[in-house]
Amino acid sequence: MEPILYMAPLQGVTNHVYRNAYSKEFFGYDLAVAPFIRSCEIRKSTKNPLRDILPERNCDRLKLVPQVLSNDPRTFILITQAIADLGYKTVNWNLGCPLSKIRNKKRGSGLLSEPEFIVDFLSQVVPRIPVSLSLKLRLGNETSNDILKLLPMIEGFALKEIIVHPRVGKEMYSYPADIETFSRCLELTEHRLIYNGDINSVETFNALKGRLSGVYGWMIGRGGIVNPFLPEEIKNLRVSTDNEKRHRFYSFLESVFLAYQQELSGPRHLMDKMKENWQWWSRAFVGGKQLFYQVSRIRKPDKYRAMVDNFFQQSPKLLI
Ligand SMILES: Cc1cc2nc3c(=O)[nH]c(=O)nc-3n(C[C@H](O)[C@H](O)[C@H](O)COP(=O)(O)O)c2cc1C
Repeated sequence: MEPILYMAPLQGVTNHVYRNAYSKEFFGYDLAVAPFIRSCEIRKSTKNPLRDILPERNCDRLKLVPQVLSNDPRTFILITQAIADLGYKTVNWNLGCPLSKIRNKKRGSGLLSEPEFIVDFLSQVVPRIPVSLSLKLRLGNETSNDILKLLPMIEGFALKEIIVHPRVGKEMYSYPADIETFSRCLELTEHRLIYNGDINSVETFNALKGRLSGVYGWMIGRGGIVNPFLPEEIKNLRVSTDNEKRHRFYSFLESVFLAYQQELSGPRHLMDKMKENWQWWSRAFVGGKQLFYQVSRIRKPDKYRAMVDNFFQQSPKLLI
């Protein structure tokens, strides 16, 4: 059976511009979780907090699940109602963000050391929202015992699924993912579990699949940004030659660039955004590191385009 694959949310990267350009050129994902929206933003009237997930800004080729970062049931319910009004059927609660400024304010993975708080939050929220709820967790805040304690406590809630990135918050992305503790999670819950972490090649995916039985789906983050062909390769949907890959990658980069050019105000914002993306894309090519360095210094969009065109005209070797 074909595996179920989710595009992971990466704040600043996998927004509507990325998702739309992605689904024009590549395929293989069954669903994307959008980068988080803070629930407290529903009370501010300056910018629409839902702008990234507005249906008119998102092509319907890729199913989308909005994500909310919150430690306040009241604003969570309010923002979820607004999300439901846009037509979405599922919302994801972010309990995984590892950034210290978020963890220290008892949000994201900072909440995982407080399972009673999470239970209380779910008791208030689940009966009051008009959509199904999924969770995205790390193993804990500082220790992976957090998830072992939490899972039995949330077993009775009607949750759509639980996505688990098997690291604790304080580790950020260092140390290997803790597959052992993830396997214990599979034994501890009847909820559908989605595995997320370090899937960066077909080989890693197959090894994880062989090791973990009972996983409902697989979420791919950084590996899928560096190698956008990965989902179709995992599903064996299409085999592209290196030339086709370069061509398809280039078309995708053009779409991202043109869409940001329309949306962002001024060349500085545009170039900052391209730089943010190139920190990942550069890893797909021999010579990508040097190109990233050059892109980081460039201020003029025309120069940027000429530089990228020149790079692709030289048929750079692929590392993916
Ligand atoms: C730059 C960046 C931004 C991220 N933003 C989010 C986010 O908005 N919401 C979220 O749940 N996870 C976020 N994550 C975590 C990823 O979704 C994913 O869980 C993590 O990268 C591990 O998966 P991977 O090893 O496949 O990349 C972010 C990660 C990175 C590197």
